[in-house]
Amino acid sequence: MSHADDHAGTRRDFLYYATAGAGAVATGAAVWPLINQMNPSADVQALSSIFVDISGIETGTQLTVKYLGKPVFIRRRTAAEIEAGRKDDGAALIDHSSRNPNKEGTDASDANRAMDDAGEWLVMSGVCTHLGCVPIGNAAGDFGGWFCPCHGSHYDTAGRIRRGPAPENLHIPVASFVDPTTIKLG
Ligand code: FES
Repeated sequence: MSHADDHAGTRRDFLYYATAGAGAVATGAAVWPLINQMNPSADVQALSSIFVDISGIETGTQLTVKYLGKPVFIRRRTAAEIEAGRKDDGAALIDHSSRNPNKEGTDASDANRAMDDAGEWLVMSGVCTHLGCVPIGNAAGDFGGWFCPCHGSHYDTAGRIRRGPAPENLHIPVASFVDPTTIKLG
């Protein structure tokens, strides 16, 4: 098997571009020459990452992208959602871990769950921590966040499990801002 064949799967993942805004396809085309110039180790590392154009995501909506074979939710929260998430920092939470590898703080506060200081962006694995269904978003469930209909798990506006059989908050993948309108996963 050739080196290229070894990485065929991850290359397909890398080529998945979320088309939240016009121009995302052009971005993908522009990135290829850059990748080809990288040395092998950086090349392999880059192939496990995807770049998501978030410029087209309106406040109060969510983009779902496929990353490493699983859905990732990217939600641009409303002011009310942010406020509700912060207010519930003091509520009786089921899981007290941030589940966020991108923040130093480990408790499940809203600030430790959000991507940015303003709390507008929430990036989470779209996989219920009970048995792996994909929860419904757009202010669903009893806590205005996400609801998993499989066995009735309710997540709040910060993706924290609040009621139902799921044991953990929705996990957060490694993610970072490349620029104000691009999020890198991985
Ligand atoms: S898989 Fe989500 S509640 Fe069971």
